[in-house]
Amino acid sequence: MPAWVIDKYGKNEVLRFTQNMMLPIIHYPNEVIIKVHAASVNPIDVNMRSGYGATALNMKRDPLHMRTRGEEFPLTLGRDVSGVVMECGLDVNTSSLGMRVWAAVPPWKQGTLSEFVVVSGNEVSHKPKSLTHTQAASLPYVALTAWSAINKVGGLSDRNCEGKRVSLALILGASGGVGTFAIQVMKAWGAHVTAVCSKDAGELVRKLGADEVIDYTLGSVEEQLKSLALFDFILDNVGGSTETWALNFLKKWSGATYVTLVTPFLLNMDRLGVADGMLQTGVTVGTKALKHLWQGVHYRWAFFMASGPYLDEIAELVDAGKIRPVIEQTFPFSEVPEAFLKVERGHARGKTVVNVV
Ligand SMILES: NC(=O)c1ccc[n+]([C@@H]2O[C@H](COP(=O)([O-])OP(=O)(O)OC[C@H]3O[C@@H](n4cnc5c(N)ncnc54)[C@H](OP(=O)(O)O)[C@@H]3O)[C@@H](O)[C@H]2O)c1
Repeated sequence: MPAWVIDKYGKNEVLRFTQNMMLPIIHYPNEVIIKVHAASVNPIDVNMRSGYGATALNMKRDPLHMRTRGEEFPLTLGRDVSGVVMECGLDVNTSSLGMRVWAAVPPWKQGTLSEFVVVSGNEVSHKPKSLTHTQAASLPYVALTAWSAINKVGGLSDRNCEGKRVSLALILGASGGVGTFAIQVMKAWGAHVTAVCSKDAGELVRKLGADEVIDYTLGSVEEQLKSLALFDFILDNVGGSTETWALNFLKKWSGATYVTLVTPFLLNMDRLGVADGMLQTGVTVGTKALKHLWQGVHYRWAFFMASGPYLDEIAELVDAGKIRPVIEQTFPFSEVPEAFLKVERGHARGKTVVNVV
């Protein structure tokens, strides 16, 4: 089948188009094969192209789904898919055949920049009816990542945002894929949202519902935040030095939580190997969490979680008109390398989508 693959890690030149990628095969009774109509490119694809996370991801890869045992190449990147179910395993109801679905495929599985992809039944959900495949492919990976950070780790939901315990939220890095979804879901749940982004993204994040917008290019975000009330929740999509000051803007001793998506988890394993990398990771997150707990706030890391049931909830919000896809640019399948370069240049304003069909 046609697919974009890499045969080694490196710069954009390693991306190779082939007509001869092996068709995926169902190995487990809960799997389905999806004909990919649209996919997307996320920062993780660009990073994985360069070898990021290979140590941990290779450990998780299922040899049955790899062409060569013990070898991840040829590796297909791309996490998001919107498409149609073509084949299903014995445990999957055959009425699923022909269904329009969306999913985000975990990074240790073969990706979606190909004609077909095999996914587990519990990772798939009905595509929102109100979206085209192109629009739908912009959401699953960033939406599930934001859902994991905000709902599963941060504890925010439609039950506790509106004028109640959790009401003031801050999003650092609000203009990219995760940020544009996070603003909308927290607004849908009734939170008051402050978004930090650069000047030219201000209009976009306001249109998505942000109540306050802080332009980080104007100068110190710390100084600008001092004039605002303290927050119940902070989502950090930027990382780096932000965590040295951001937690000072949480309400103390009230269960307020800072959640970062930028963690050294996979890098530690790439650098130190699996055992030492995991040890280092445990020590780092444990030390930071304890230090901040003493100061009356919660410090947490969050990660993408593949989940069909969470996508069902997200699809409801989309079809209710509470969340809309934010697509910055769409590329044809023949221009996947250009899509990677676009994402690699940074300064995303929403998502970069690839039309496969
Ligand atoms: N832990 C996980 O499982 C997981 C999963 C998904 C993503 N992530 C990470 O989460 C981060 C966000 O992902 P994404 O997909 O949303 O990335 P993205 O689409 O590239 O968006 C990043 C956004 O942040 C903005 N930005 C950069 N520096 C900023 C700053 N100092 N203050 C405020 N905004 C800033 C960028 O625009 P400007 O540069 O123009 O301001 C861009 O709009 C990435 O680091 C990604 O690797 C982690």
